[in-house]
Amino acid sequence: MRQSPLVVVANRLPIDDSVAPDGAFEWRRSPGGLVSALHPLLRHTPATWVGWAGGTGPAPELPDVDGVRMRTVALNAEDFRDHYEGFANATLWPLYHDAVEQPEYHRRWWEAYQRVNQRFAEAAAEVAEPGGLVWVQDYHLQLVPGLLRALRPDLRIGFFLHVPFPPPELFMQLPRRSELLRGMLGADLIGFQRAQAAHNFAQLAAKVLGLSATDRRIGVDDRVVRIGAFPVAIDTAEMAALAARPEVADRARRLRQDLGQPEKVILSVDRMDYTKGIEQRLKAYRELLASGDVKVRDTVLVQVAVPSRDRVGQYQILRDRVEHQVGRINGEFGRVGEPAIHYLSQPFDRAELVALYRVADVMAVTPLRDGMNLVAKEYVAARVDGTGALLLSEFAGAAAELEQAYLVNPHDLDGLKQGLLAALRAGPEDVAARMRAMREHLAHNDIHAWAASYLSALEESGSLVGRRPAP
Ligand code: ADP
Ligand code: G6P
Repeated sequence: MRQSPLVVVANRLPIDDSVAPDGAFEWRRSPGGLVSALHPLLRHTPATWVGWAGGTGPAPELPDVDGVRMRTVALNAEDFRDHYEGFANATLWPLYHDAVEQPEYHRRWWEAYQRVNQRFAEAAAEVAEPGGLVWVQDYHLQLVPGLLRALRPDLRIGFFLHVPFPPPELFMQLPRRSELLRGMLGADLIGFQRAQAAHNFAQLAAKVLGLSATDRRIGVDDRVVRIGAFPVAIDTAEMAALAARPEVADRARRLRQDLGQPEKVILSVDRMDYTKGIEQRLKAYRELLASGDVKVRDTVLVQVAVPSRDRVGQYQILRDRVEHQVGRINGEFGRVGEPAIHYLSQPFDRAELVALYRVADVMAVTPLRDGMNLVAKEYVAARVDGTGALLLSEFAGAAAELEQAYLVNPHDLDGLKQGLLAALRAGPEDVAARMRAMREHLAHNDIHAWAASYLSALEESGSLVGRRPAP
């Protein structure tokens, strides 16, 4: 395979094998924030994306996607179970999200994590040009920077964590904590969503590894590793252009008719994940229906919850509970032809999702913990007419930027109800002023600005001490 000057390494490729409703096999864009952020960025750059295409068969040969070369890494059934579902999504994911579900620790999972990280590092080493730049993404691949540096000391290596990095009290639970920290420190620059995460990391590097660390720099062997906050973003202009298309506006109008022309449409769009606070939100909604503060005829809730990691026990339990809750609320409060909640557990193409954003008077984004939450940013960018209220959890990374949203603590049921009512009842001027400020922020802080700031910091990082010529 030809080598590239820029290599992105992420567990997920931007496309995913899936089965269409008619049973045919198709490649489709993978849902999830990482792909949404990086895909528009790389389009038409001479880059290679190293990743897994879904499934447990041999690595398929994929065509370029929008000019970006795909280098697939295979996961067999055991890797899938122990690396992806196990260490990545049943150990690290819950631990990094405030342990809102109990993280599980199994020695076999750690072995798989090491093995799969080695495979990704080898694939990246194969496709990176001499002296090239490799950008490793997210919690599935925390050992890759260190492994890659051992294979290719000539490379400049960046690492970005899309999810929160937990406080030391939580991270210290990890049986293999020092190896994970050392793995990340193989990078020249480690980027986090928030400054607090960089601070947590620096504290751990000092405490666990005895390194000299500040919130900006960590000395490792003969190198200096830079760390910092780089809040991830979306392609604001592209989202706005899609939302402004006449066929999307038409689709939004038709959706409103199909929903029965209610006064207010509330929308939530999440992966079916226990970090997203779906159960808490539904409970709040149920109480508002029961008290009569919200009436089914006037207000409609649309909950999109695309299934995710659906063989992991905690995800199966969540899906059952959410579907039970939706059924119960519709049974109690719906009328013939007028359900209280429209529940859709399907992936949608971008245009349909944006039409939904356009129809939503209130967008409810209330995760218990979230690295960023791009859905919140997508909603704001899609509101090209300047209307729409965003209800946003204080525990989403996006809350640090979208301060004019109606901010709520999703653990506080009464606060959540009040926040939802405030967003539903807000006057048009208040809504417009808040939306204007948020749109202004996203116009300047888009995915291109994010990449430019990360990549220029990476260019400046990595004292050349420690970097050696290509073998
Ligand atoms: P996470 O990264 O945890 O999945 P984000 O909110 O950051 O959460 O990103 C989710 C991404 O997945 C967004 O870009 C959103 O548009 C996309 N997405 C969510 N649900 C669907 C769906 N049903 N169909 C297609 N894309 C979806
Ligand atoms: C989050 C993670 C990504 C992941 C995505 C979808 O955004 O940070 O790394 O790709 O969720 O999850 P999945 O398990 O389907 O890749």
